[in-house]
Amino acid sequence: MRSISNEKNLRDKKILLRLDLNVPLNKRNITDTTRIDKILPTLKFLNKQKAKVIILSHVGRPKGKILKELSLSPICENLKDQLGLNVKLITQNINEIKNKNFFNNFDEEILMLENIRFYLEEEKNDSKFAKHLANLGDLYVNDAFSCSHRSHASIVEISKFLPSFSGLQLDAEINALTKITSEITKPISCIIGGSKISTKINIIKNLIPKFDNIIIVGGMANNFIKYYGHNIGLSIKEKNCDLIVEEIISLSKKQKCKIIYPEDVLVSKNLNGSGKIKELNEILSDEMILDIGPKTIVKIINIINKSKTLLWNGPAGYFENPNFANGSIQIAKTIIKNNKSDKIFSVVGGGDTVSLLNSIKAVDSFNFVSTAGGAFLEYLEGKKLPGITALS
Ligand code: 3PG
Repeated sequence: MRSISNEKNLRDKKILLRLDLNVPLNKRNITDTTRIDKILPTLKFLNKQKAKVIILSHVGRPKGKILKELSLSPICENLKDQLGLNVKLITQNINEIKNKNFFNNFDEEILMLENIRFYLEEEKNDSKFAKHLANLGDLYVNDAFSCSHRSHASIVEISKFLPSFSGLQLDAEINALTKITSEITKPISCIIGGSKISTKINIIKNLIPKFDNIIIVGGMANNFIKYYGHNIGLSIKEKNCDLIVEEIISLSKKQKCKIIYPEDVLVSKNLNGSGKIKELNEILSDEMILDIGPKTIVKIINIINKSKTLLWNGPAGYFENPNFANGSIQIAKTIIKNNKSDKIFSVVGGGDTVSLLNSIKAVDSFNFVSTAGGAFLEYLEGKKLPGITALS
């Protein structure tokens, strides 16, 4: 993979830059700007090199329809403010744009094409559409790791028509993920949460042979608690998961990877309630597990303190109610403490975990926080991402 950061002669080169500006929008308000903030260094770098940037991105899933509420316009405004540069949104039909239309005005510093998913050809990875896009620039840069699991025209097919490079953020993401999947410093531990174990089974199976500890928390830990014969009351649980749990336990024994699940929990009768500490054999039928308990926290802290590399995906409890955020906050604090003294390399990913870190203003305290959702998970499953293969 060639990185654009190593290219010297970019002056006046027209660069088609694929970004993932798929941020949550409430009417025209961006409710979380993390994805925009993360790609600012790439835009600043290209601007400094005097390259002519044409941004390609999508927001939402318009499925080939032009939807006003999914315009990139508020994102363009945000970029303009953050960069202090003239970023111009081109709303003209992409198929009618000619290469010579671009950068004719002196004040056009960065151009942005309107939502690329307004065109059905994008998701079809249409070759003619990709070629037309490619004709608008001299080089192609993919700085959208979080879209690289999609075989779409502006991610995969376009790279066949132009010299193609990775962007700064994509490089950082691959570098961090490599450190937790192939170039590992041991001991390595993973804390994995979330509500559905079936969606994470392939990740767990892929990580077991390489990891020393896999700590299962959040709703999916309930499947383990139940499997070991405890009443979990009204707690969330997926049906028919015993086979998945058995598969994880048997593989971990073969590979000498420890599987850790909660020894005590915080329960409540409803999501808005306050928590009561319970041993696993004390949970009543009208109670639900909403966080890990103090003994489990101590156990997890000890494992983090002994680890040199750590991956965290999925909160430990129902952190939306502060009464059940303690487990996740203690995990975050311990990782941050170890990071500060350079004792650990930490990678965090997943929408809920990033929201939790945003809420405690801790996003910058980890070695790497991934803003990728599906792409992050597929990479951890060991899958090849088509957008990355296209660059290689
Ligand atoms: C994401 O939010 O994970 C990326 O922007 C990809 O979006 P998608 O799941 O709609 O393809």
